[in-house]
Amino acid sequence: MLSHENNQLLCKVGKGTPMGDLMRQYWIPALPSREFPTPAGKPMRMMLLGERLVMFRDSNGRMGALSEFCPHRGASLYFGRNEEGGLRCSYHGWKYDVTGKCLETPTEPPERQERFRANIKARAYPCHEVNKMIWVYMGPRETPPPFPQFEVNTLPDEFVAEPQIMMEEANWMQNMEGDIDSAHLDWLHRRLEEDSEPPSVGIPGFWNPTGVPPVLDVVPTSYGGFYSARRKMADGTEWHRVNQFIFPFHTMITLGDGGVTLRSFVPLDDHHAMLITHPAHPCQAPSEGTLEALGNDFKSYGGFIERTNDPRSYYMTKYNQRNDYGQDMKLQAEKMFLGIPFVGNLQDRAMTELMTDDEGTPLYDRTQEHLGTSDAMVVTVRRQLLSAITRFRDEKKLPDNVDQPELDRVRAITLRLPAGADWKKESEHARASQPNEASRSDLLLIL
Ligand code: FES
Ligand SMILES: [Fe+2]
Repeated sequence: MLSHENNQLLCKVGKGTPMGDLMRQYWIPALPSREFPTPAGKPMRMMLLGERLVMFRDSNGRMGALSEFCPHRGASLYFGRNEEGGLRCSYHGWKYDVTGKCLETPTEPPERQERFRANIKARAYPCHEVNKMIWVYMGPRETPPPFPQFEVNTLPDEFVAEPQIMMEEANWMQNMEGDIDSAHLDWLHRRLEEDSEPPSVGIPGFWNPTGVPPVLDVVPTSYGGFYSARRKMADGTEWHRVNQFIFPFHTMITLGDGGVTLRSFVPLDDHHAMLITHPAHPCQAPSEGTLEALGNDFKSYGGFIERTNDPRSYYMTKYNQRNDYGQDMKLQAEKMFLGIPFVGNLQDRAMTELMTDDEGTPLYDRTQEHLGTSDAMVVTVRRQLLSAITRFRDEKKLPDNVDQPELDRVRAITLRLPAGADWKKESEHARASQPNEASRSDLLLIL
């Protein structure tokens, strides 16, 4: 369990909160390039860390992320006209470029304009677009920190697939904790029997070959941490799933497909996070099977609801908490433990989105928890984050991967090793990015 104070420290990400301040030191993945297909197209609302933004691709193709509210008198720049070289507020015609520079203030007398404009700047956050994704830096540095070196950001574009995105209606932390909790695979994601018929929708359920619960072995690092969840195989060998957590909100969990997929739990506000799963492979385009295993935009299961102009409605699946995620009791009786298809993180959401208080606010009160040995990675990541938050708040020291982005070059892998083998030593090469070498994948996620 956590104290109330530490729970708030971890979960709250708005401006001026310690976690929000820490996250703002990093580049943050925001929206995929496909949302801005043409220069000077319609601006789009976005929300990150509780701040309302307007994102747009200007007439030169450059991406901009401005605070939604015009510096003149606060009209929404969402209705700005995307004109030559910048966005013009529709209220009084003031115009801003992607850096926030005020280009025109036509309501002022012509002779006064230039001097007047010198003091006006829209709040603008630098954008960086790479491999189909737009990242934003919302921090205080004049020159942003170096760009994260995750493999998905450095591989050739053709080895990187379209980001798979899903809105999660809960605090970012409870969503993210599900990704570093291997023990739930044996229950939430399981199929009923080893030879259960594959379901008609989604991937087949997980199967633990001996039913012995996994044993977690956790290693904190300067970039976050990694762990092995070790399961016994019927022949006495051991199956290690080695997954990563990277500050401030990234994970890598292995499907056993040779890929190097990055997963980011990006908070829009304290009660909504976008899970951005960005698939890549070191030597080829990610396969159809990989995209299918990651949900493939829920194409097989209703897709997304029609979005409104509120960013919290983007990438909201048709099946969600308001219709019990499409739970099918026949599926539950015959094939799958939960009766919700195993598509993307839908089964996970049925667990994490409903962790609420009595009012239904999805920010769980962790003073009520009872943690066990299988929660070892969750505990370690909370400690790592709390120590990063307080070190930054009290000593202004940041985790190493802000300024040493090469620390992001790690991998999630699966190993099949003899019983008692030294998995950390055995996996040293495979846990690091290796050019033109697929991720080590001794076993698939679904046996
Ligand atoms: S409020 Fe935007 S120009 Fe006046
Ligand atoms: Fe899961």
